[in-house]
Amino acid sequence: MEIKLRAYKIEDTPTILNIINYNILHSTALYDYTLRTVEQQKSILEDKVAKGFPVIVAEIDGFVAGFGMYSEFRFREAYRFTVEHSVYVNEEYHGQGIGKLLLIELIKLAKIQKLHTMVAVIDAENKSSVEFHEKFGFKTVGIIKESGYKFDRWLDSVFMQLILE
Ligand SMILES: CC(C)(COP(=O)(O)OP(=O)(O)OC[C@H]1O[C@@H](n2cnc3c(N)ncnc32)[C@H](O)[C@@H]1OP(=O)(O)O)[C@@H](O)C(=O)NCCC(=O)NCCS
Repeated sequence: MEIKLRAYKIEDTPTILNIINYNILHSTALYDYTLRTVEQQKSILEDKVAKGFPVIVAEIDGFVAGFGMYSEFRFREAYRFTVEHSVYVNEEYHGQGIGKLLLIELIKLAKIQKLHTMVAVIDAENKSSVEFHEKFGFKTVGIIKESGYKFDRWLDSVFMQLILE
């Protein structure tokens, strides 16, 4: 199985949206309640691209099975060397090394862009994502307790950080 990474194109939006909306409906990976429209998702992605941040997709036989991106962590100027990233893989393609390729590429691009640190904000129930990030050297640096509320329960947000060399 060959996994090809490439930059996101507008035509990828509906496939990316399927992954996002799946996670909104079925998981705490996203803290949204409401499914997004193609227009909303397109504007989120295009905004990142316009600001010079990478949005990348992983293709298997022409099918977009996952994507990754990063953008501002917070908006005050002094945060300019810090980014928050995310990686999402279609449920049917988990455990095949796609997330790994996407995250390695994002780390590489962040170094090229001379950024200093990457942050992932992960729901504490999402143990697979926490373990996934640990594999790449991310460390848990804080947990904001009961900062989310979804599916009738409080959720804790885990902040994981990688300082780039
Ligand atoms: C987290 C996620 C991106 C991982 O992607 P993936 O393609 O399934 O992961 P990979 O197959 O590339 O695995 C990479 C490494 O992480 C580890 N890992 C992946 N899923 C794991 C799990 N469920 N439990 C423990 N470790 C896991 C693997 O063991 C693997 O290590 P290895 O290279 O030593 O074998 C994917 O599960 C996902 O999309 N989850 C839903 C969305 C999400 O939570 N995104 C993160 C928000 S930032």
